[in-house]
Amino acid sequence: MTAVDSFRIETEPYYRPVGDEVAVFEAAYQHRLPVMLKGPTGCGKTRFLEYMAWRLRRPLVTVAAHEDMTAADMIGRFLLVPGEMAWHDGPLTLAVRGGAICYVDEIVEARQDTIVIIHPLTDARRMLPLEKKNELVAAHPDFQLTISYNPGYQSAVKDLKESTRQRFVAIDFGYPAPPVEAEIVACESGIDPGRAATLVEFAQRSRNLRGQGLEEGASTRMLIHAGRLMLAGLSPAAAAQAAIVLPLTDDAELREALAAAIAACLG
Ligand SMILES: Nc1ncnc2c1ncn2[C@@H]1O[C@H](COP(=O)(O)OP(=O)(O)OP(=O)(O)O)[C@@H](O)[C@H]1O
Ligand SMILES: [Mg+2]
Repeated sequence: MTAVDSFRIETEPYYRPVGDEVAVFEAAYQHRLPVMLKGPTGCGKTRFLEYMAWRLRRPLVTVAAHEDMTAADMIGRFLLVPGEMAWHDGPLTLAVRGGAICYVDEIVEARQDTIVIIHPLTDARRMLPLEKKNELVAAHPDFQLTISYNPGYQSAVKDLKESTRQRFVAIDFGYPAPPVEAEIVACESGIDPGRAATLVEFAQRSRNLRGQGLEEGASTRMLIHAGRLMLAGLSPAAAAQAAIVLPLTDDAELREALAAAIAACLG
């Protein structure tokens, strides 16, 4: 057993395809092209990649990017173990050596000097330099890099450099068409298709409030939470209030507008 084997996904994750994303990812993976998953929060990016890793039988190593993340957090560092300094591979190096898919979540959160580590890995070189260790790691033939990013939160300071962006094949994730989203909500939460459809209807109204104070509308994830609360016995209105409206906004007027939408859709 190698170090990445513990990152294998043994059972098929539930993923409902919404377009040609499976075919695009498979084609990209065939040539080990890096992939960028773009889309709002809670729309299925992570679930999709779990599914693809299972389907392609590759281990999936995930790194959640954040602004304090250093290159060492990704590639590894020397640590003091009794008597000596020993090198410990970081998650990226682990994936590069072991032929895993490495998923860097919310890449724009990382600092530019951290992001550039992936450059030699994501062009024809497929190399990862470990400067501190004086080692150049050639990527395992099965290694592939996927990143995610939410274009909605992007600001001028937190955007990908052209030299990073242009290395990736991109797949756009939006919220699925209503019948498909209702199917996902029913399947993941356990509520019946009829109630799932009304939750989706409400979500669409909330998404129309985007830009009028709401940063994002209700995500598929939130609808699933609401469905689970309903299954646990809450009324549809109480469930939507707790799982969607209150987390979504602190603004009294927006809460009222959302409550009106709940009344219209969920009764
Ligand atoms: N197409 C889909 N098939 C199956 N489940 C889905 C699908 N889309 C969304 N989901 C459900 O929605 C939940 C949220 O999706 P996921 O965690 O993949 O979102 P995300 O896009 O990675 O969000 P974030 O950007 O916040 O990380 C999943 O746990 C899953 O239950
Ligand atoms: Mg995610």
